[in-house]
Amino acid sequence: MQTIRDEDRVRDKKPRRLVGHFLVPPEVAVIVPTFNERDNVLELAARLARALEGIAFEVVVVDDDSPDGTAELVRELSLHDPRFRCIQRIGRRGLASACIEGMLATSAPFLAVIDADLQHDERLLTGMLEVLRSGRADAVVASRYLEGTEVPGWAEERRLASRLATRLVAGIPRLRGLSDPLSGFFMLTREAFDGSVRRLSAIGFKLLLDILLSAPQPLRVVELPYRFRERRLGRSKLDLRVVVEFLVLLLDKLVGAWVPARFLLFTAVGGLGVFVHLAVLVLVHRGFAVEFVRAQILATLVAMTFNFALNNELTYSDRRLRGVDWLRGWASFSLACSLGAFANVGIAAFLFGRETSWILAAIGGILVGAVWNYAVTGFYTWGRRSAD
Ligand code: GDD
Ligand code: MN
Repeated sequence: MQTIRDEDRVRDKKPRRLVGHFLVPPEVAVIVPTFNERDNVLELAARLARALEGIAFEVVVVDDDSPDGTAELVRELSLHDPRFRCIQRIGRRGLASACIEGMLATSAPFLAVIDADLQHDERLLTGMLEVLRSGRADAVVASRYLEGTEVPGWAEERRLASRLATRLVAGIPRLRGLSDPLSGFFMLTREAFDGSVRRLSAIGFKLLLDILLSAPQPLRVVELPYRFRERRLGRSKLDLRVVVEFLVLLLDKLVGAWVPARFLLFTAVGGLGVFVHLAVLVLVHRGFAVEFVRAQILATLVAMTFNFALNNELTYSDRRLRGVDWLRGWASFSLACSLGAFANVGIAAFLFGRETSWILAAIGGILVGAVWNYAVTGFYTWGRRSAD
């Protein structure tokens, strides 16, 4: 593990005097999202400083409160070299949203994103900057696939998944001609970012895709080839959740203007919950001959817990509750959904009484219940941090 030397630490505490050293406004800001990258950030910082020599740059590390102390290390580094600084977010997760906050926190006219794990080749940054300076493009993408380069060290599933995802978005008109619209390494002008920032979904890992699809006018994009390197230390955070988030991002870009993708996900989880409920009921009531009402209560509890857990992992993965907060969240979720069930039955009974067909009455009840559950749990269960 890398650390700052002790004698330097002592120097940090001494009063600092300004000796003709003024901060130069940065021309380019390099945004580095981090989660548990303590072992990589100092090496990355050294490489960035070398690659960007002679350029007025700043590096904004946006850390989601990594347990390994990434943020502290970056702050220490910042005391030695103020071109590096840290934004620490507490109780939040998400690669894309971290990058957006980093971009909003800098005044640089050119904005780059690079991973902390040294997989992206930082020597490409100067070339990217040149393209943007020339005004030829609004964004420059470092492409893993431009020259058919294979990604080393990737398991076959990861290779396939990346291909599949790239293929999936290849049909979108705005992305036509791009070899790597899912790249996590790119640079864009502030105007391009400003144009789309209010429309971004900010879900998951794929910020570039989000920006390209959110821009009011199609952006002019130039791709530069590079070799995606193997991760040196630490672990990848790409997991099933990231895959789901990718699909939700696409869904949000598709229908988000009308229905929030989060609501659709919430409803889909609710639909799965119905199956869980029925499965438990069949097992306990028919299988173990438990009396119906008891079995129904048990099935309801299991389904509610299942729904809460899945929503906590997927629908609200960016505000995931843990430990005591998880229990508290479960309680408020269950309470809200019980009230939602009353609303559901009440509305359905009301509609049925007004000569609506039973199926429409049922759907009406379910819809009102779903919206209620979504709105109330969004506010009470996942809306606030327990520390507030
Ligand atoms: N702040 C923050 N919050 N940072 C995160 C989070 C998070 O929730 N999750 C991951 N990161 C940081 C990691 O610490 C790392 O610096 C970077 O985002 C990329 O995460 P990895 O886990 O290393 O992702 P990957 O290597 O599988 O995929 C990356 O590279 C691909 C190719 O460019 C991502 O950038 C992909 O989006 C990209 O397609
Ligand atoms: Mn990586």
